[in-house]
Amino acid sequence: MSEGKLLEVDDLHAYIGSPRGVVKAVDGVSLSIDHGAALGVVGESGSGKSVMARAVMGLMPSNSACTGSVRFNGRELLDLKRKELEEIWGKQIAMVFQDPGRSLNPVVRVERQLTEGMRRHLGVSRSEAQSRALNLLVEVGVPDPERRLRAYPHELSGGMRQRVMIAVALACEPDLLIADEPTTALDVTIQRQVLDLLRRIQLERRMSLMLISHDLHVVAGQTDRVAVMYAGRLAELGASRAVFEQPRHQYTSALLAATPTIEHERHAPLNVIRGSLPSPTEPPPGCRFAARCPAATDTCQSGQPPMIATVSDHAVACFHPVAERAGELVGR
Ligand SMILES: Nc1ncnc2c1ncn2[C@@H]1O[C@H](COP(=O)(O)OP(=O)(O)O)[C@@H](O)[C@H]1O
Ligand SMILES: [Mg+2]
Repeated sequence: MSEGKLLEVDDLHAYIGSPRGVVKAVDGVSLSIDHGAALGVVGESGSGKSVMARAVMGLMPSNSACTGSVRFNGRELLDLKRKELEEIWGKQIAMVFQDPGRSLNPVVRVERQLTEGMRRHLGVSRSEAQSRALNLLVEVGVPDPERRLRAYPHELSGGMRQRVMIAVALACEPDLLIADEPTTALDVTIQRQVLDLLRRIQLERRMSLMLISHDLHVVAGQTDRVAVMYAGRLAELGASRAVFEQPRHQYTSALLAATPTIEHERHAPLNVIRGSLPSPTEPPPGCRFAARCPAATDTCQSGQPPMIATVSDHAVACFHPVAERAGELVGR
């Protein structure tokens, strides 16, 4: 695994204009992804995960503004013009969305969707692109790949379409793949297979991965580090195992208690955390989770808790973090 950071996001703010006022969708997020590493981003629906991913890609709507810094391979992406970003999309950073129905072109056969980007970005010949397309379908575990190359997206099952989406994203050999809730629309068993596939490919290709999900259970086993987002800010950031086994933020702890494990998802009722996200246009001045937090005091209402890192590189933005169990994290 090569050393150093591929992506460095520093104090990113992404504000969007709306009839209700300015939505502070991302409001001061700092995180990084090393070369060849996988970062999970988790948080309830509406916490700003997708906007953060789109801000990193430079895919924000015109009525929005991004400030802070997004450095990719040492280059500041927020300063780039549309044309320069287009050079990066697909080739250096690729994205997989929740709904392959919207990302795949319904009237274009699978083969052309796979070869188009390769021919444009990598400049390979038609026959080279075709043979790479076949290999990609094999790599993402699509059975009978020759036949699938000639298929249209609607002729494939949801799981197969999502595999094809991943193959399209991998076609130009990106350094970073951003997968935004890539399996939410799928059946539980297929979800697991697709996530295992993403992790295997990420490790084999030594690619970096940002895996976004509302489910910490899903993400923890498939990533090296996890960032927990709440109401546009980071609540917690650390090694996936540490965050999962020893959550320090009261929100992370509540999130884990509220989400059933993937195996039980079908049967258990979703036990959501009481209360709801604060207003994204007028967030409270203090900790954004305070109104829902069992440990909140007056301190939490007065100012935003800073992100404080522990010796084990596990950072938490909470005035009353969950107690660390003695010794366990030290020296890890
Ligand atoms: N195009 C948009 N215009 C206005 N508000 C938006 C837009 N996209 C997202 N938002 C708002 O930004 C916040 C974060 O949304 P999002 O990033 O989609 O959350 P998540 O992906 O974590 O579910 C939400 O309050 C959402 O309503
Ligand atoms: Mg989202």
